[in-house]
Amino acid sequence: MSNSWEKLIVALDLEDKDKIIKVVEALSGRGVKFKIGSIAFTKFGPRFLSDIIKEKVDVFLDLKLYDIPNTMKRTASVIAQLGCWAFTVHLQAGEKALAAVKEEVVNVSKQRGCRLPLILGVTILTSSQSVDSDVDGLVGLADKVGIDGVIASARDARRIKSNYPDIKVVTPGIRNTGDDIGDQLRITTAQVAFEAGVDYIVVGRPIINEDNYLDAAKHLLEG
Ligand code: C5P
Repeated sequence: MSNSWEKLIVALDLEDKDKIIKVVEALSGRGVKFKIGSIAFTKFGPRFLSDIIKEKVDVFLDLKLYDIPNTMKRTASVIAQLGCWAFTVHLQAGEKALAAVKEEVVNVSKQRGCRLPLILGVTILTSSQSVDSDVDGLVGLADKVGIDGVIASARDARRIKSNYPDIKVVTPGIRNTGDDIGDQLRITTAQVAFEAGVDYIVVGRPIINEDNYLDAAKHLLEG
């Protein structure tokens, strides 16, 4: 499928800095995006994140903010100054917190001239069971407050896209056919996700646990 490389977000869930750098070096030339989550961010901090951004790669900071509105707003302000491509909030934080995050990010980007990051809302974690109405309610809220995209399973993507065509759908829980599913309950292949209308897939272990990251990514994208 054309363009798939740009639709791939590789989760750098690693505690080994050299390994993170090797993954980025192996894949950045393809236009892949990279996700720094709580593991790498807690260990290496914002300076490391900035170093990766300086290499002109798109970084998605996945800290899944979920707090009272004031704390979420102030954290979003700090994140907006880092120059990330995107960051995550939990949609379950509610309308007031989400609207405050959106307003803050837009203001900070305007005032400081930083890159306006996409705000991505977590619906229900793909390691949990969900019902359609829970997901749909959260996506409706995201749309109402101007959240740019949602993290959702491929199973939910087609429905979300038909109701809210402008909302980006980002899908983790991607595996090769026959892979060990690990702790992800709602898994799918990259092909099935793209066919369902998913904008970006997030892939961690099927790539970062392999010896050849480029071959593993190719295999995953080509099916
Ligand atoms: O290793 P694996 O491919 O399962 O990694 C999936 C990544 O996506 C992890 O970094 C995980 O934190 C993240 N994620 C997820 N489910 C969500 C949101 C994020 O698996 N709903």
